[in-house]
Amino acid sequence: LFVQLCRRNIQSKAQKRPPLAFAFDIDGVIMRGPEPLPKARNALRILDGNNSLNAKIPYILLTNGGGQTEFDRAKKLSSRLDTQISPSQIIQAHTVLKDYVDAYADKTVLCLGGVGDTMRLVAESYGFHKAYTTTDVLAWNSSIWPFIHVTESDLASAKPIDFSRTPISAVFVFHDPRNWGIDVQIICDVLQSGGLLGGPWVEPRTQDVELVFCNPDLLWKSDFSRPRLGQGAFKASFQAVYSMLTGSEYPYTQFGKPTQSTYDYARRVLHDLLDRSYGPGSGTHPRMYMIGDNPESDIAGANAAGWSSVLVHTGVYDPTTGPPRHVPTHEAEDVEEAVVWAIERER
Ligand code: G3P
Ligand code: MG
Repeated sequence: LFVQLCRRNIQSKAQKRPPLAFAFDIDGVIMRGPEPLPKARNALRILDGNNSLNAKIPYILLTNGGGQTEFDRAKKLSSRLDTQISPSQIIQAHTVLKDYVDAYADKTVLCLGGVGDTMRLVAESYGFHKAYTTTDVLAWNSSIWPFIHVTESDLASAKPIDFSRTPISAVFVFHDPRNWGIDVQIICDVLQSGGLLGGPWVEPRTQDVELVFCNPDLLWKSDFSRPRLGQGAFKASFQAVYSMLTGSEYPYTQFGKPTQSTYDYARRVLHDLLDRSYGPGSGTHPRMYMIGDNPESDIAGANAAGWSSVLVHTGVYDPTTGPPRHVPTHEAEDVEEAVVWAIERER
């Protein structure tokens, strides 16, 4: 009887332990450019139930990447990783902008990054009704940047508007700009003219155009041998030029890892996911593990959020350059080793 009581107590404790969940960074952890990293499929298979807990372990993908809808990203990743990932498991750099729709749904906003009209399609999928892109600006007046030839296909995807009569209320840098020269020029024009492209310059204090960046990454790891410049480098370039033009930087809002806003948003998504996985109320305080390759974003953000963090050696961080500026709970060679270590730690 004593043994039975202990076993029931252990079981009840096990049932009462907060649920285990993971947050995976994508670039440098799961994917290297267009291809999955070698151990990525195994790591997700373990979470799908092939583990010592004999349980399916919920996870989200938390990336500073983007440039497409969460639906399209989930479809592509599911196919590349041979597993089923739902759009609700994916938080991209710009996903948090869904919280901006109430304020800007019917205002004219400029959505930068990506190619052609993709950022407009993403913005409209969130609920923005008057979203425009760099391509729309070039289609309106290509002389805004004399060194570019606007192609017929670009013009075909453009949404007609007269930017000289339609004030832009906000500039959202959704994803990494493809042509920094054009986008720096356009942002400087919008901010100096108080939102009316081609209009006279206005005094900085009278400007009311909101500027939002969704990804602070100076560097990120794709399939080139060395890390690449990210949207954080674009932001630095823009602010340097804007300062030379006006004497000071322009105030902005920053989202993306490691900002608290993005981890708070991730917590909300996890709460819903865990409630669906383990039942109502179980998503309140999960035992969280973040697996990332960039100490400045993944590890810094996870540590600040009170999550356990695992730094892998398949991305931005190079262990031969010395210890990381943000110390993880653990380091691992790759994402599979990271998952196995975390699950064994939680048994
Ligand atoms: O643009 C993508 C890059 O900045 C980082 O992506 O998945 O490593 O957060 P990720
Ligand atoms: Mg990464």
